[in-house]
Amino acid sequence: PISSSISDEGHLTISGYDTVTLAAEYGTPLYVFSEEDIRGRCREFATEFHRNGHHTRIVFAGKALLNIAILKIIAEAGLGLDTVSGGELEIASAAEFPMEKVYLHGNNKSDSELELALEKGVGRIVIDNPGEMFRLNRLAEDRGAKPKILFRIRPGIDPHTHAKISTGNIDSKFGFSLNEAMVSVPQAMALKNVEIVGFHYHIGSQIFEIQPFLDAMTTTLEFISEMQKVHGFVTQELDAGGGFAVQYLSDQKPPDIGVYAEAILGHFDNECGRLKIVPPGLTIEPGRGLIARAAVALYTVGVIKEIPEIRNYVCVDGGMADNIRPSLYGAAYEPYLANRMNETPDKVYTVAGRYCESGDILATDIELPAVKSGDVIVVPVCGAYCLPMASNYNGSLKPAVVMVHKGQARLIRRREVMADLLRCDIN
Ligand code: LLP
Repeated sequence: PISSSISDEGHLTISGYDTVTLAAEYGTPLYVFSEEDIRGRCREFATEFHRNGHHTRIVFAGKALLNIAILKIIAEAGLGLDTVSGGELEIASAAEFPMEKVYLHGNNKSDSELELALEKGVGRIVIDNPGEMFRLNRLAEDRGAKPKILFRIRPGIDPHTHAKISTGNIDSKFGFSLNEAMVSVPQAMALKNVEIVGFHYHIGSQIFEIQPFLDAMTTTLEFISEMQKVHGFVTQELDAGGGFAVQYLSDQKPPDIGVYAEAILGHFDNECGRLKIVPPGLTIEPGRGLIARAAVALYTVGVIKEIPEIRNYVCVDGGMADNIRPSLYGAAYEPYLANRMNETPDKVYTVAGRYCESGDILATDIELPAVKSGDVIVVPVCGAYCLPMASNYNGSLKPAVVMVHKGQARLIRRREVMADLLRCDIN
């Protein structure tokens, strides 16, 4: 996080709070967020995407991390929120998030989710397919509502990221093809109970290259120009999704937010000029870029298993139940020893979790000082897509979450207890 440092004792601190003390106070596995980091990233996105007179709307992709205390900070920073289900809408509602700034996405929304969105009065419903558009119109008519909608389109761009997090390709379950949208836009214009205001695309996540963002924008703006010529449809809003990459490893160098912003906004201005269209209001939906770096995960080392000539395993008290990203995407992390940050790494270890699967590995062949049982392993950049994808695999309890700010720590999610595991079973 922005606010991390190393104490005289060689302990990692976040916002002035010793992470080793946090591990002792709250137990492990523990997720620790820095409020300063979250606020700083919100400011950074706003500053960079508001350059040259742009009023880009910044909408936090809540799927990366949803927690009531964190949503309050996001709302205070003036951002919007992207949700993808009735469940996420209910969490937003519990956080008293301003509903007019909430977007509802999803490729298979149920009637009850659409009704909930209408009841809560969400700002935008992002329509994924023609059937959904007609369903929403009917449901809105029943309530006398007229929601603003965007069409999600598939611009057919390969973002060169992991296949499981690529979404804008032609072969994707998300959104309208351009041909489908061409047919559906005039239909939407004729519907009485929806107001189509624009288009959305999201091409993928953890995208290091700038070019796919620009290509998707060109394809969409050309489509927007076509819509205007053929159907007289004036696009008011263009929601360009998220996907900005963050640095997980010391040898990675993703573009800074300012670099993405300059390229995307500059390209937007040029293309709108070239195509002679009135520039629609721009929206972006960062998830990882906003929250990933704000948190670390802390684990306690238990068993150390050295297999001569083969591998040294360090086993920690968490793993794939709280962070499935290495097993699911082959995602790489760079752990450190939070209690011995000043010592020189001189041994190679593989950090394994505690779950009954060989694939339950958090990091492979990384260098650490000679590890002892009881050491505290810290895994940086765990703020996005770890906790919301956590499970109760092997009867595990989801971790506690702490927020630190200005030398103070507060619990923002309690650790699950055994009763939580049994809550839903019926005998
Ligand atoms: N907007 C839409 C419509 C999305 O589907 C997503 C992410 C975002 C915005 C935010 O993307 P971001 O800025 O965070 O890249 N679980 C995977 C990532 C899945 C992303 C899904 N959609 C992972 O752990 O890498």
